[in-house]
Amino acid sequence: MASEEIVYEKTKVVFQKKLPTIKKITETLGFSPDRVLVIYDRKLEKQEAIGKWLGTGNKLTYAVTAGEKLKDLEAFPGHVKKIMKLIGPVSPQKIVVIGLGGGTVGDFTGFFASVFKRGVSLVHVPSTLLAAIDSAHGGKTALNVASIKNQVGSFYFGSAVFICKDIFATIPQQQIHSSAGELAKMALLAGGDFFSEVKDTYFTGLDVMWKYMPQTIDSKYKILQQDPYEKSGERQLLNLGHTFGHPLESYYGIPHGMAVGLGLVFSVHWSHHHGYLSFKDQEVVVDFLHDKIGIQKRHQFLKNRKALTRAKLLKLVSEDKKMTSPNHVNFVFLEKASKVFRKTVTIDSFITEAARQGWVTS
Ligand SMILES: NC(=O)c1ccc[n+]([C@@H]2O[C@H](COP(=O)([O-])OP(=O)(O)OC[C@H]3O[C@@H](n4cnc5c(N)ncnc54)[C@H](O)[C@@H]3O)[C@@H](O)[C@H]2O)c1
Ligand SMILES: [Zn+2]
Repeated sequence: MASEEIVYEKTKVVFQKKLPTIKKITETLGFSPDRVLVIYDRKLEKQEAIGKWLGTGNKLTYAVTAGEKLKDLEAFPGHVKKIMKLIGPVSPQKIVVIGLGGGTVGDFTGFFASVFKRGVSLVHVPSTLLAAIDSAHGGKTALNVASIKNQVGSFYFGSAVFICKDIFATIPQQQIHSSAGELAKMALLAGGDFFSEVKDTYFTGLDVMWKYMPQTIDSKYKILQQDPYEKSGERQLLNLGHTFGHPLESYYGIPHGMAVGLGLVFSVHWSHHHGYLSFKDQEVVVDFLHDKIGIQKRHQFLKNRKALTRAKLLKLVSEDKKMTSPNHVNFVFLEKASKVFRKTVTIDSFITEAARQGWVTS
C-alpha cells in the first residue's frame, strides 16, 4: 500500500487493517464529541471483531438493514424519531455520526447527518468494496422516492473515511468481482500511468483490489476537486459507463459494478465507432475489461437473457438523471485508454448505437 492516509480538502482517507477505536476515529474530527452514534448494517454484527467493537466503547449504536428500502424517503421520519430518542438532548456541534456499511448505509447515514439538526459531523466506514472505492467519497447522499433512486439528497462531505481491510473479509466473490467494474472505470478516467500500471493485472480477489484502492480513490478525488458540487461538469466524467450501465442494471437486475463494466465496453466501442478512439486502443481497453476485469462479453451475457427493445431502452434512459433535455443525454467517450471527454448526444443516436452493438432488438 502506497500510503496509510491521504488528506483531501474536506476529507481524510485512512487505510487500516482493522477497525480503529472510537478514540482514533474521533481524533480526526478536531473536536471532542459528546455523542458518537454508529449507524451500521446489522449483517456486520456476525463478524466477530465488529460485534465486539459495537459492544464496547463510549458510543450509541443504531442497526439498519442494508438495501434500497433503507433509502426509502417514507421510512426516513421513523428512523429519525428512533435516533432522536437514542441521542437525547445534546448540541449539534457535539454529535458525530459514523456510517458503517455499504453504499446504502452510507447514502442513508450521509443524508441523515446532513439534515439532522441542520447538519452534524460525519465519518464513513465502508464495508463493501463499492462503498470503499466509490460511494463513501464525494459527498453525495441520497434517498429514493417511490422506488425511483436517489431523488432526494444533498452534498455533504464526511470528515473522514476509514477503510479497513478486515471488514471486507466476508464479502462474497461475486461482489468483489462486480466492484472491479468501478475500479476499471477509475483507471480509464485517471489519466497518468494508472491504466498502464493495471492493464496486465488480473482483478480476481480482494488482495489485488486492496492494492490498487488508494490509486482508485485518488483518481476520484482528482475529479471531485475540480467540481465538488457537480456545477462545472467535470464531475460528470465519473459517469463513464453509467449511461448505458444504469438501464442494464434496472432491466436485468444485475449488480451495479457489473452493469458499469458492460457499460464501459459499450462506451469503448462507441468511441471507436465515432472515430474518437483508435482501433489499437479499443483492443487494449476491451481486452483489459473482458480478460483482466472479467466483464462478460455481450453474447455471453445475453445467452440466457432477453435483449432490450428500443422502446424499453428509451424509457430506461429517459428515467435516468443524465438527461439534458427530452431528447438528449450526456455521454462520456474515450479518446485514449486513459483520456475521456463528455459530449451531449441525442437519445436516438444512443439507441441506434445499442442496436448496432447487438444489445437491442427493434
Ligand atoms: N453516494 C454515492 O456517490 C454513490 C455512488 C455509487 C453508489 N451509491 C449507492 O450505493 C448503493 C450500493 O452500494 P452497495 O452495493 O455497497 O450496497 P449495500 O449497502 O446494499 O451492500 C450490498 C450488500 O452487501 C452486504 N454487505 C455489506 N458489507 C458486507 C461485508 N463486509 N461482508 C458481506 N456482506 C456485506 C449488505 O448487507 C448488502 O446485502 C446504491 O444505493 C447506490 O445508489 C452511492
Ligand atoms: Zn457507479
